[in-house]
Amino acid sequence: MDKQRLAQTAQALVAEGKGILAADESGGTIKRRFDSINVESTEDNRRNYREMLFRTAGVDKFISGVILFDETIRQDAADGTSMVKVLSDRGIIPGIKVDKGTVPLPEAPDELVTEGLDGLRDRLKEYNDLGAGFTKWRAVISISDNTPTSYGLAANAHALARFAALSQEAGLVPIVEPEVLRDGDHDIDRCFEVTEETLREVFEQLAQQKVLLEGMLLKPSMVISGGSSAKRADPDEVAERTIECFKRTLPASVPGVVFLSGGEPDDSVTANLNALNKQAAVAKAPWELSFSFGRSLQGAPLTAWAGKAENTEAAALAFYTRAKLTGEARKGAA
Ligand code: 13P
Repeated sequence: MDKQRLAQTAQALVAEGKGILAADESGGTIKRRFDSINVESTEDNRRNYREMLFRTAGVDKFISGVILFDETIRQDAADGTSMVKVLSDRGIIPGIKVDKGTVPLPEAPDELVTEGLDGLRDRLKEYNDLGAGFTKWRAVISISDNTPTSYGLAANAHALARFAALSQEAGLVPIVEPEVLRDGDHDIDRCFEVTEETLREVFEQLAQQKVLLEGMLLKPSMVISGGSSAKRADPDEVAERTIECFKRTLPASVPGVVFLSGGEPDDSVTANLNALNKQAAVAKAPWELSFSFGRSLQGAPLTAWAGKAENTEAAALAFYTRAKLTGEARKGAA
């Protein structure tokens, strides 16, 4: 394992003012996104849309890396340049989603576990050869009266750590994503409790499986009120509770956190990230607090694009605007 290279890549991904664009929607997810704008999910449409994002002028000031789906890492832009080269020529690190999605966890009603470990060592070697610098694996934890169970947390944490260890062995920085879903009417205290329990289990497994903490990033959800909660915590409370939770569970040697946006409205995602970075210095948080957003960076450009070539410029402007604002929030300056 090249520890120094892993640590350098992890640090580059959370460089000041920069974060990650998650553009790794699987076939089913990108189809749902395209359905929302009445565009057919063909290979060409997916390529045109993603190429528009990757070529948007000026976003390299705010975007350090892009997470790709398997199709995209093998795809060429319209002029024949590989998508990987389009990104790396701009100093943006290409990454790859390597999990294969979730399936029901046996004997655990309402809980899911993520698949994709079989054959992963060989796939990682190939992705490294294709030019990836980092990987992502998403586990899903849902909050309800009966979930998560300790069994569900253990199964997911174990898989996350297996993925992380194999990624580092292949020279790739793992982005470890235990997403605590926002669905539900729970309050912020319940989200805090579940996030704390989740991260404890994840870091226990990462330690057991000898994952180099300096050479990984955590992609968590923020500690927030449930999506349908009657009482919504404001950005200052979200920031305070999130940092409090991480101080209990997240080792200082992890260089950074790259939050997911999780389906929260754009303005509250930006306000929360901004509050987090404002409080980070005062609270002496030892980690970079950055982003790895899918929906919050892509909602506006997707709508502006609407599948039409003549909208490419407007869509790129919408993406640039969201990326700039997010980059400012990442510095606490939005
Ligand atoms: P969202 O920001 O849309 O939650 O997506 C991030 C991601 O990569 C989920 O795996």
